[in-house]
Amino acid sequence: MKKYRFEYFASCSSGIEELVAKELTDLGATTTVVVRGGVQFIGDHSVALKAVMLSRLSSRIFKFLHQFEVNNEKDYYLEATDVKWKALMDVKHTFRLTTIFGDLPFEREEFRNSQFANLKLKDAICDYFRHHDGERPSVEKDYPDVSFLARIDRGNEKPYMVTLMYDLCGDALNQRGYRMAKVEAPVKENVAAAILKLVNWNPETEDLIDGMCGSGTFVIEAALMAGGIAPSFLKVAWYLKDPQNNKPWTFVNYPWLTQDDELKKVFNHLLEEITESTKNGIQKLGSMKGRISGNDISEMSLTSARENLKKAGLDQVIELTKTDARTLNPNPNKTLFICNPPYGERLQHGEEEKLKELYKGLGDHWKHHFKGHRAAIFTGNLSMLKVVGLKTTKKHILFNGDIECRVAEYGLY
Ligand SMILES: C[S@@+](CC[C@H](N)C(=O)[O-])C[C@H]1O[C@@H](n2cnc3c(N)ncnc32)[C@H](O)[C@@H]1O
Repeated sequence: MKKYRFEYFASCSSGIEELVAKELTDLGATTTVVVRGGVQFIGDHSVALKAVMLSRLSSRIFKFLHQFEVNNEKDYYLEATDVKWKALMDVKHTFRLTTIFGDLPFEREEFRNSQFANLKLKDAICDYFRHHDGERPSVEKDYPDVSFLARIDRGNEKPYMVTLMYDLCGDALNQRGYRMAKVEAPVKENVAAAILKLVNWNPETEDLIDGMCGSGTFVIEAALMAGGIAPSFLKVAWYLKDPQNNKPWTFVNYPWLTQDDELKKVFNHLLEEITESTKNGIQKLGSMKGRISGNDISEMSLTSARENLKKAGLDQVIELTKTDARTLNPNPNKTLFICNPPYGERLQHGEEEKLKELYKGLGDHWKHHFKGHRAAIFTGNLSMLKVVGLKTTKKHILFNGDIECRVAEYGLY
């Protein structure tokens, strides 16, 4: 068994790996390697800690533990019982396991599926502890003490390479904690942040209107970026209020942090820094009032957006309006009109025509009323982009959950 060359792994939605790599480099990672659905990186431990607390784009951050090669499922169990689990957790700890297949462009004859592989790993851990301690640890799905990820890729000497990692996060990083109220098909928080970066939105030079804001994800992420507020700002506030209740972060229990005094100092410093920058950010956003705004035609969507803005403490700085997006005007400043129209996944008879009308209407409206500004559509309905009727300046492919989506950018002249 050998130690993995890369120390950490940041998982993310497919399509934004390069942006994540750039973010990690900015946080101090010395080497990054992009793989599908994430970025492997090297950096000192504080870089990983910063990634957990400051990355807007990653889904989770993992620390590499071990790597071993296997021929098949049975081997997976045997090799896994060889891992020194006692160095990684205690029998009293609850644990969670996830096994995923990484970049495997071949048939997986020797593995039935990832759930079954996961069961094998669980059996290996339980049998290991039964053998050493006479009892087995318990599995906990929601808030375990320790959480592991096993990623199975193509091997070198044997067909499969298993990489075992600690999950440093409890809640996924996209779960910032502000989204209490959801609408149908919301965009993930980190995907919304990534889209704003993909289209090169710069809050200093361009205002932002989300014409179909739904639960408000784009405007909240935009405000956090504009105010320099860390995505973990709510988690930090909760932690400082009740340090025992550290559900969002599993790393606080790991020897990785508890036995490293230098890293503990960095953690405390980050807590202070994030608290301070949140205060400053809210103040800055107060002076930017009107420059980031949301709109929706549905009262239900607006109610959820209002609730989420309040939870994020941004209800005083972001304005919401209720009208048809096809009647909105740009701000006096240069404006980016962003929107995530309905995809129409389950279209009833006649609804496709309505959807076409909506997408075409947006294109027509921008052509006539947004000259000199920019627009961007994020959608999972690829055929609808064709009816917008405007030439795209750029298109990006990315995934929102399992749905392959496009971001289409339009420069309007
Ligand atoms: C896919 S959802 C947007 C989800 C949002 N991005 C989020 O993260 O919550 C589409 C939204 O478009 C709104 N909508 C549909 N037609 C509209 C129109 N003509 N004008 C404004 N909003 C509209 C719907 O009410 C819905 O809230």
